[in-house]
Amino acid sequence: MTSKAKELIIRQPDDWHLHLRDGNLLRSVVAASANVFRRAVVMPNLSPPITSINAAINYKKRILDSLPSNSVFDPLMTIYLTDDLSPKVLEEGNKSGIFFGAKLYPANSTTNSSHGVSDLNAIYPLLETLQVLGIPLLIHGEVTDKNVDIYDREAVFIDRNLHPLLSRFPGLKVVLEHITTDYAVQFVEKSQYNLAATITPHHLHINRNAMFEGGVRSDFYCLPIAKREKHRIALRKAATSGKSCFFLGTDSAPHTRDSKESSCGCAGIFNAPYALESYAEVFDQEDALDRFEAFASLNGPAFYGLPMNQKTITLVKKSQLIPEFVQVKGSHSPSQRISIFHAGQTLKWSILSSSLTQYHNSHT
Ligand code: DOR
Ligand code: ZN
Repeated sequence: MTSKAKELIIRQPDDWHLHLRDGNLLRSVVAASANVFRRAVVMPNLSPPITSINAAINYKKRILDSLPSNSVFDPLMTIYLTDDLSPKVLEEGNKSGIFFGAKLYPANSTTNSSHGVSDLNAIYPLLETLQVLGIPLLIHGEVTDKNVDIYDREAVFIDRNLHPLLSRFPGLKVVLEHITTDYAVQFVEKSQYNLAATITPHHLHINRNAMFEGGVRSDFYCLPIAKREKHRIALRKAATSGKSCFFLGTDSAPHTRDSKESSCGCAGIFNAPYALESYAEVFDQEDALDRFEAFASLNGPAFYGLPMNQKTITLVKKSQLIPEFVQVKGSHSPSQRISIFHAGQTLKWSILSSSLTQYHNSHT
């Protein structure tokens, strides 16, 4: 397929890294993901975080209760690792099947991560348990050392923490989430371990200049922070390579206007409403539409040992203007608006509405 393609039919994709929040925010954003993706790995960094079986079960129920009535969407729940979490929680959670994965936030690395892990060595018993049970470890890969430049925190994490962790737990399934550097790309590509990485749409579209264009642009502030152009180019090459170690994870992270713009604004980019179209634009620009399905719909299930989705989704080359924001349900205040990634821009691809049709056997 070339960039002249006008239509693209792929198996229904999954989002392997998503923030859905809770309450009115959850109700305002969940449909955007559920309308397109069949499954999503739901991050546990609520306040308080999801650190127990019951909390995960109840959160899953709230997500399902918030879905539009015709939705077919599986939220895959994760547990938030802390210094004092007991391995028993992982064992019992595994028996009940509630935990799809365990999320490692280095303490204070990002939004609602203050309860995260302060010393990786101290949670080795938890990692041992994950390895034995076969529960994937999902990593926010940044050091929090204030002496390390914010743009170097991912690379330093790889050297200081990830490399030793992988050699200590060679049987552990690990995903380095939302990679942002050419260093991470190479590390994942060359790894002999059970390691994969997700890549967000925003890190494929923006470099660090976006945060400072004509002033401070909080809508482009996320963590790991967007890096130099050479890293964006490396990420685009990785995502569009078709290599099985790279797959789709939006890291869509909604924050209302008032939490983005304050003396200490939150990190996160809300890309869920046009995430698939955003990725498609990149694959089209890179002349790699023939590898879009691998990245969006095949590599993730293959890594996790899950079945591929049976339905297809159709994208058409039809321009659309991206709206500015989603309003939080139950509020009319401008402070309760969530800016959408690509707001005010035109994207060249659109999802053919009601295109989710039963998968045909001829398309293999
Ligand atoms: O930009 C981000 N936002 N990165 C994260 O790791 C967390 C996320 C959030 O929850 O807002
Ligand atoms: Zn995230």
